[in-house]
Formats: sequence, structure tokens, C-alpha cells
Amino acid sequence: MKIAVCGATGRIGRVLIKHLLHHPQLKLVGCGASPGSKELGADIGRLIGIEDAGISICADLGALFERSDIVIDFSTPEATTACADLARTRGVPLVTGTSGLDGKQQEIVRRAAERVAVLQSPNFSLGANLVLAATTLLASALDDDYDIEVLCKTHRNKADAPSGTAFALAQSAARARKVDLQQNLEQFRHGRVGPRPRGAIGIATMRGGGGPSEHLVLFAGLHDEVQIKHTLYSPDLLIQGAIRAALWMNGRDPGLYSMLDVLGFGN
Ligand SMILES: NC(=O)c1ccc[n+]([C@@H]2O[C@H](COP(=O)([O-])OP(=O)(O)OC[C@H]3O[C@@H](n4cnc5c(N)ncnc54)[C@H](OP(=O)(O)O)[C@@H]3O)[C@@H](O)[C@H]2O)c1
Repeated sequence: MKIAVCGATGRIGRVLIKHLLHHPQLKLVGCGASPGSKELGADIGRLIGIEDAGISICADLGALFERSDIVIDFSTPEATTACADLARTRGVPLVTGTSGLDGKQQEIVRRAAERVAVLQSPNFSLGANLVLAATTLLASALDDDYDIEVLCKTHRNKADAPSGTAFALAQSAARARKVDLQQNLEQFRHGRVGPRPRGAIGIATMRGGGGPSEHLVLFAGLHDEVQIKHTLYSPDLLIQGAIRAALWMNGRDPGLYSMLDVLGFGN
């Protein structure tokens, strides 16, 4: 299977390239970055500190879709929507891990999935997806006597907040409780906020350093509480998950899939 990467020069993209260059089932055929990237034209081997690989960074996302059977994208919401449009018009499946898409951008991804297989996941690690599944279970089993709070801590360079994983955890809890997340979300607390509204779902964000990324979901009752937590020590784990997802996509019908589908515990 020929594969291309959008966001190849980024923190995640570079790790992805490293894993794809010698993959037994996937052949890396293209790598994309922004039109303003300082890495345009650079050989990807050199980019990750090894010998030349014969593939250079380009800004032509159309060309990536032309020469590949699947595209993996870890970039920005704007680039992801461009990828989704190209996936739809060229009929090339897309795996995307980009977070921070707004409603309009998400709609473009959803429209692409009507015509081609699109897999979108806020987190490709098995552990984080198990926490997502456990959040659904706990939020439906524990009623709103239990306050739900999601805490995320990620490295200092993350562009958007809350993280896509934190938002997905809150979304899973809201769905399990059959409430609208936007109407119940508490993200910014400051000053005399008064008692916590019953049924609110809180998200708190910490940013700092380059250390592991952590997501914790708290179900706090008056007499007991449950906490579930995932700590990611290395992006290699995400990349292994994203590659597993790309292989799983081979021959899939059009639709919007998630990592939960790949792992076999989707709805
Ligand atoms: N789902 C998951 O498991 C997971 C895990 C970690 C991160 N993420 C998400 O993945 C995304 C990337 O994360 P990161 O840490 O790698 O970010 P990053 O280091 O800022 O990298 C962003 C990449 O996107 C490229 N890019 C920016 N604008 C573009 C455009 N218009 N067209 C094509 N490429 C463009 C950048 O290229 P240049 O700067 O060279 O132009 C760079 O390669 C973020 O949304 C992050 O939240 C998801």
C-alpha cells in the first residue's frame, strides 16, 4: 500500500516518517508540509537525521493524494480540511489525528466520509481508547450525583486546548448521560463561580515542558470517587496505532471510523 503523510515536518510527523520508512507493508511515497514550511524541498531522511530517502517535503497536497493509496494526516485543522476535500474528490482514504477542528471544519470531514473511508481519532493509543470506553461505561453507570471532570496535561507546544483526547472524553461522558456537551461544559472557572452546577462536565488544561501527556477522568461523588488515567510516555505508541489504523482502512467502505472501530469496541 502506498502511503503519504501530511504534516510530515511536525513533532508527530517526524516520528511517523521514521516508522514508515522501513515498514514491510507500507511504502512511503510522499510527505507534505505548509506552503511556508522552512523544510520545503528537504529530503525526509535528512529531516530525521538518517541518510537520504529520495523523498522531499512538498506543499502540494494534491500530489500526495495523486500518488498514494492512503494519506495519514497530523497537521492543522486548515490542512486537514484540505486533505478531507482531496480525499473526497480523489477517492483516497484518509487517517487523521489532527485536533482542534471547529464545527465547519468537522462538517467537511464528515462530508468526505460520505464518499470515502475516513478514520479520525483524537488519540491512537490503545490505553487512551480503553479510557474512552471506560468513561462511557462509568458515565452511564454513575448518575449525576457524580461530578465529571476531565484533566489534561500536555507538552508546552500544543497548539489547541483542550486536547482532542480531553474533548473526546468529555464528549463520551455527555453521550453516555444523554446530555448536550456544549450546554453542560465548564471549561473556564474564574472569580465567584458559586456551587458547581449539577450535571456539569468540566475540562481543565495544564501545559508544560516536554514530559508525558496525561488524561484523567474523575467521577466525584459525596462518599467516594473513581478516577481513570492514561499517561503517554512516547509518541511511538500513537504512531504504531495510526499505522495499524491505516492498514485496517485497506478496502473499507466509505464512512467515518474511529480507533474504537479498529480496536473492535466501536458502537
Ligand atoms: N490523534 C493523536 O493521537 C494525536 C497525538 C498528538 C498530536 N495530535 C495532533 O496532531 C496535530 C499535529 O501535532 P504536532 O504536535 O505534530 O504539531 P506540529 O509539530 O505543530 O506540526 C504540524 C505539522 O503540520 C504542518 N502544516 C501546517 N500547516 C499546513 C498546511 N497548510 N498544509 C500542510 N501541512 C501543514 C506543519 O508543517 P510546517 O510547519 O513545516 O509548515 C507540520 O508538519 C495537532 O493537531 C495535534 O493536536 C494528535
